[in-house]
Amino acid sequence: MEGGTRGALLAALRLQLDWGADEALLEAPADRTRPPPAAPEPSRPPRPAAPGRIALPPAAAEAGALAAGAATLAALREAMAAFGGSPLRETATSLVFADGVAESGLMLIGEAPGADEDRLGRPFVGASGQLLDRMLASIGLDRGRNFYITNILPFRPPGNRTPTDAEIALFLPFVLRHVALAAPRRLVLLGGVAAKALLGAREGITRLRGRWHQVTLPDGTAIPALATLHPAYLLRNPAAKRDAWADLLLLRRSLDAD
Ligand code: URA
Repeated sequence: MEGGTRGALLAALRLQLDWGADEALLEAPADRTRPPPAAPEPSRPPRPAAPGRIALPPAAAEAGALAAGAATLAALREAMAAFGGSPLRETATSLVFADGVAESGLMLIGEAPGADEDRLGRPFVGASGQLLDRMLASIGLDRGRNFYITNILPFRPPGNRTPTDAEIALFLPFVLRHVALAAPRRLVLLGGVAAKALLGAREGITRLRGRWHQVTLPDGTAIPALATLHPAYLLRNPAAKRDAWADLLLLRRSLDAD
């Protein structure tokens, strides 16, 4: 191959990586620029929103109905696998549901799967998950015995980009149902995405961390929730481990008070 052509192809590949296209999904390339086949005419026109109300996209209504209909964690996992309302499903390899002991009384919630989690189908198994496991082990907690862990999004956003507000809102009914079914006595919210999504807060994680808040479920149940820094942030900012350690001690003290 001529040097110039090879260089251009490598640059194009590098650009794809910058944009987050870092995995092959199909054996052969798919032409996504081709117009989709004509959709059948809808039999009923969409209902207009009631005045003063925000019209929920149909996918949000579907997510809410699927989540509400799940009576067990296994059923919830199936419902999420059946949910076709998010394009993230098309670019992810796996549905990353949860790991650990659902009945432990302690549930941790992160942001979204990364590349390792997407490949293995389990949350927090990559570098940040390994750091998290070490941190929790330092206060006597073990994933195989005394905590349960999941994410706000069950699918990896391409290129590990931050989830959009719309993606978070779409998956929130599943997360709230997940919490209701696991029925933990305490939640730990790992990072700003989880903290903001579940606390409805406007402040960033540096203001929210280090305190117990409450997450209120649709049935009114309030669950104490500790907000703390995300382990991926700690990998990038080792000086912040001091704050994370203070948060871990808060958690340990609360567990010891049982
Ligand atoms: N970061 C997350 O928020 N979740 C994971 O599962 C892995 C990394």
